Amino acid sequence: KKVVLAYSGGLDTSVIVRWLQDTYNCEVVTFTADIGQGEEVEPARAKAEALGVKEIYIEDLREEFVRDYVFPMFRANTVYEGEYLLGTSIARPLISRRLIEIANETGADAISHGATGKGNDQVRFELGAYALKPGVKVIAPWREWDLNSREKLMAYCDERNIPVEKKKGKSPYSMDANLLHISYEGINLEDPWAEAEEDMWRWSVAPENAPDKPTYIELTYEKGDIVAVDGQEMKPHEVLEHLNKVGGANGIGRIDIVENRYVGMKSRGCYETPGGTIMLRAHRAIESITLDREVAHLKDSIMPRYAEVIYNGYWWSPEREALQALIDNTQEYVNGTVRLKLYKGNVDVVGRKSDDSLFDEKIATFEEDQGAYDQKDAEGFIKLNALRLRIAASKGRKL
Ligand code: ARG
Ligand code: SIN
Repeated sequence: KKVVLAYSGGLDTSVIVRWLQDTYNCEVVTFTADIGQGEEVEPARAKAEALGVKEIYIEDLREEFVRDYVFPMFRANTVYEGEYLLGTSIARPLISRRLIEIANETGADAISHGATGKGNDQVRFELGAYALKPGVKVIAPWREWDLNSREKLMAYCDERNIPVEKKKGKSPYSMDANLLHISYEGINLEDPWAEAEEDMWRWSVAPENAPDKPTYIELTYEKGDIVAVDGQEMKPHEVLEHLNKVGGANGIGRIDIVENRYVGMKSRGCYETPGGTIMLRAHRAIESITLDREVAHLKDSIMPRYAEVIYNGYWWSPEREALQALIDNTQEYVNGTVRLKLYKGNVDVVGRKSDDSLFDEKIATFEEDQGAYDQKDAEGFIKLNALRLRIAASKGRKL
């Protein structure tokens, strides 16, 4: 019996390694990925070795994460419940896929993760795993063991000689970070009235402390994806790394929200998504000149559904693939450049241009036009559209 564990190298998942070995008497394979969380992944190797792990996977998935998950999601201008840019949600399908691929490679019949039984992450990991390997066995220690307090966890480490390193500057929050965002939950945030402390935030300066001079940037799009920043070609993950830096320096991308978890509870969380916040505004701007109106409105109308599909953990599902096919189809002409002004927490679009622009100055102008639009046509257009309103009014219907 063998189980592949999503292993961060941190204390909780180290305890899980030992607990799986003890409880299930099984071989544990660890999988640790760099998806831009900003922590070294290599130290996970020595830690896993010390726990007796023989098959250790450590991978740099930053490029794949942004290219195949983050960018496709941003083509839809995806936002959950009007605010959340899905930074954690979008990373889970990639982890699930690798867990299953590694299970297949190593002949493991089970996967395991360190998500609790109260959150969204367990749902996302497991829905993905079942979708990709229907017979897989899932072990979720947090739902099984009774180590549900710090003290019990520490006692367990003591008993089994699991080294507990006291990291200095370790934040007390429940956090999750990758190239798209960093999230904070728990502790004082559990009171939705309590303002987050300034020193909680790690990626951005407070808008009031941001530079007094704006930063201008230009983003170039091809088929809905950013391919260059300020004229310099970049890979997807390099784009996001760069935008996180300039965005964070200008106080962009902080939110503080109460969201509805799929499991039914409300939860308060704070998020920093500097690059993503810039990308959302910029993508809408390039679409504003390149998309047909009805196509734009159609994709807007399915966006909340697409966001829910991803939030709830159904990336690996036929409905997500169907929605993605529609969204990707709309991006054919989403090419061109957007100019942005970043200033004290704000992202202002100040210019947009495209060889595929549908914007026609000759038609839109308030000056004399050249015949493409005859103002007299508007009279009939309005009258026919008003027909049903006039009929209802003439029958005495009150509004
Ligand atoms: N509430 C967010 C979500 O459901 C963030 C979850 C953060 N996860 C974590 N393991 N700290 O996507
Ligand atoms: C967890 O419960 O493991 C983190 C929060 C979440 O998954 O929503």
